[in-house]
Amino acid sequence: MPYLEFHQITKRFPGVLALDGVSVAIERGSCHALIGENGAGKSTLGKILVGVYTADSGELRLNGCVIHPATPLVARGLGIAMVHQELAFCPNMTVAENLCLGDLPRNALGWVDRTKLRARAQEMLAAIHADIDPAVLIGSLSTGQEQLVQIAAAVGTGAQVIVMDEPTSSLSAGETRELFRLVRDLKKRGITMIYVSHRMEELFALCDGITVLRDGRHVSTGRVADTTPAKVVAQMIGRELLVQKPRHIDQAPGEVRLQVSNLSHPRKFSEINFQVCSGEIVGLAGLVGAGRSEVAQAILGLDPSATGQVLVRGKLLPPGSINAALAAGVGLVPEDRKRQGLVLGLNCRENTALAALPLLTRLGWVNRSEEQAMVSKFSTRLRVKAPTLETGVGALSGGNQQKIALAKWLARDCSVLMVDEPTRGIDVGAKAEIYQLLDELACEGRAILMISSELPELLGLCTRILVMREGKLVGEVPRADFSEARLMALMSGVAAE
Ligand SMILES: Nc1ncnc2c1ncn2[C@@H]1O[C@H](COP(=O)(O)OP(=O)(O)OP(=O)(O)O)[C@@H](O)[C@H]1O
Ligand SMILES: [Mg+2]
Repeated sequence: MPYLEFHQITKRFPGVLALDGVSVAIERGSCHALIGENGAGKSTLGKILVGVYTADSGELRLNGCVIHPATPLVARGLGIAMVHQELAFCPNMTVAENLCLGDLPRNALGWVDRTKLRARAQEMLAAIHADIDPAVLIGSLSTGQEQLVQIAAAVGTGAQVIVMDEPTSSLSAGETRELFRLVRDLKKRGITMIYVSHRMEELFALCDGITVLRDGRHVSTGRVADTTPAKVVAQMIGRELLVQKPRHIDQAPGEVRLQVSNLSHPRKFSEINFQVCSGEIVGLAGLVGAGRSEVAQAILGLDPSATGQVLVRGKLLPPGSINAALAAGVGLVPEDRKRQGLVLGLNCRENTALAALPLLTRLGWVNRSEEQAMVSKFSTRLRVKAPTLETGVGALSGGNQQKIALAKWLARDCSVLMVDEPTRGIDVGAKAEIYQLLDELACEGRAILMISSELPELLGLCTRILVMREGKLVGEVPRADFSEARLMALMSGVAAE
């Protein structure tokens, strides 16, 4: 008998049928993958199980009994928890306080018993072999550590089912390995997991069962061992995925568009020198924390402490002036798009058009039909799933918000475009579309700097790849010498060159 069952679950949001009679059965102690395009309904299914949303119809069964997790607290009581990607704790409280929030140990006088609090937190962390000091503030932890605390909280309160929604999307390689070890360990203890991810390799390495959703409908459920990544992709997007060889690499690079000389920062990076020519996609590789995003931000003039020169088309940009950089045609799609890239109160059309407004405006008037045409062109290409372009971006799925943020910058006619982790959280079909868009932009003569932690995407798309380690540029690899091993060696500084 399956341990956990979703039976004919339907959930409707204004204008969207997010889930349409979805049924899935999951074995006890297994890790079950949930995959599908952005907006397919994965997070919604998870949130119904943990009581964030209530299904319009259908049934949930745990161990054969129908359950009604009406709120997250009720779900917790039933032994069901979710590890969220967004901050789920109070950042200005300690790890111990957060872990024991629901049930603070008190002494005879009713005061919080600090010693007991600490001991209990220590126990919860030790249970999942997490090496974190319970006395530090949540706000000072890395994303990976915070996730471990969430898992400790789930396991410590007796969770038997844990939903993990894109848990690795902002983890370093080391943190990802730690998480995998933990997931395997939890499985051995009989804990059942639902694992949502767009990273196919992870699902195939970690999961036992797999369910594919498409447009809110159930497509298939089976054993991972019985399928292949190509089959899963075809089921997800309803067609075969065509991956084209980039075309820009066949053309000779043009004039130097971006020239960075001696760019330094007292703490973040030093003596950065490189250039990007028209028609090139230059990759910037490095481990998390190598200083890649910081360099891109400094180029855009966002960092007043940076020193050195940035020249665009041979003209020196005044230091620390974002307006001058934008006027010179520099664009940056930031890494943290929810915080830096989108105006959550505006709708899809307004967000997409925001960065391009100067192009659409004449004598102070926005040309609405041009705006409409441009916005719909990019949202179609990136396969944005939204009821209409007038929908507020806050109601979109995570990946679709990312797409809008990206579309916004692609729509702006940049001469130098920097993209920071452009495909994070984005489904495979749309990823291929983004690669093609970047290739087209390069073919049109734009200079592109692409920061990415996914080596296969850098290797597939770039003209050459620069590597940063601990704030320094440590190497440059031309396309003819591309190999994952070579890049890893430079990034980590471990193997001999
Ligand atoms: N609170 C909400 N209000 C309105 N619509 C919503 C809400 N939450 C989700 N939706 C819609 O329901 C659909 C499914 O969203 P869901 O977040 O489950 O997708 P997902 O599969 O997790 O996608 P992603 O891979 O992008 O995270 C989407 O069309 C989304 O816009
Ligand atoms: Mg989601």
